[in-house]
Amino acid sequence: MFLKRKHPIDYGRAKVRQEILIRQRRELWTPEQVKSLACHFRLRPGKSLLDVGCGFGYALRTWGRYCLPGGTLVGLDRDKRLLSTAKRLCRREGLADCSEFVQGDVYTLPFSANRFHTTLAHVVFCHLDKPERALDEMIRVTRRGGCVVVFDNALGDGMPTGWYSWSKPTVRQLLLDYEFNLRWQRGRRKLGRGDMSVGCYIPGWMEARDMRDVGVRMNERVRWMAPPYRSPEQRTQRQSALERNRERVRWDRLDKREKELVKAGGLSRRKYLRREARARVLHRAWRKELRDRTASFAGSSPFWCIWGFKP
Ligand SMILES: C[S@@+](CC[C@H](N)C(=O)[O-])C[C@H]1O[C@@H](n2cnc3c(N)ncnc32)[C@H](O)[C@@H]1O
Repeated sequence: MFLKRKHPIDYGRAKVRQEILIRQRRELWTPEQVKSLACHFRLRPGKSLLDVGCGFGYALRTWGRYCLPGGTLVGLDRDKRLLSTAKRLCRREGLADCSEFVQGDVYTLPFSANRFHTTLAHVVFCHLDKPERALDEMIRVTRRGGCVVVFDNALGDGMPTGWYSWSKPTVRQLLLDYEFNLRWQRGRRKLGRGDMSVGCYIPGWMEARDMRDVGVRMNERVRWMAPPYRSPEQRTQRQSALERNRERVRWDRLDKREKELVKAGGLSRRKYLRREARARVLHRAWRKELRDRTASFAGSSPFWCIWGFKP
């Protein structure tokens, strides 16, 4: 498998990035949480499920199983290439006969009203300029009594929680990190690239639309690793951290979007350069500890699942 490859990983290759993203999704929700959420969404064999902004179809494949046998699974995305990957992955998992994929826009879903038992969106709203419009569309195509589900980031005004052995920040550095994050978030919002706090508003948006039995759960997964990385899961964590580090360094070099966002959010050039220099030192220290097998970390991300039933 991918993890066992001996050769250096080429992150420039779309296929490798794709494998990383697929694996990140698999690590997001524990099997116990998947099962308990399926219960909350009242998924049953024979029901229909729409995954809006389905990408590779992770959510469709994960929760779609609970609609089988007899159910219909529909994935929608605006990106044709992602849809063909989603199709291939469904075929590989024996879901070809009950799944279909449609190219379209979340703001104007090409389906009649009251068509699906369950409509979900996984990590889509944080990328949208008008998430409330997408929610309205999802509600429109869901049957009365059906469930609308949004999985998304809920960063609020805070920072992701975590502790890293390779980072020993001073108060000044921490404040700079905090400011960087806030400016990045504000820049994203200002440029219409979405909002990483969107999860925090969705329960209120559902209430305002008279949705019933609104529920919210947080991702309970705490990722951690510590030497000597005894379990296979720990070894995978270390390998993933190494991959992400390499990915990060490469993306830093190639990707100018971050700079654009913090600038739009109001970060001064002086602070940007200070943060950039610090990030370079941290990435190097991190890589060294990971290679020397002395790296530890523990942390979680504020990622929520919010659902409600159409009256
Ligand atoms: C971060 S990806 C999440 C994909 C998938 N739901 C997952 O969890 O792996 C966001 C997806 O939303 C899709 N998307 C963004 N804006 C869209 C729009 N206006 N209409 C349809 N799809 C959209 C993108 O093409 C992308 O596949």
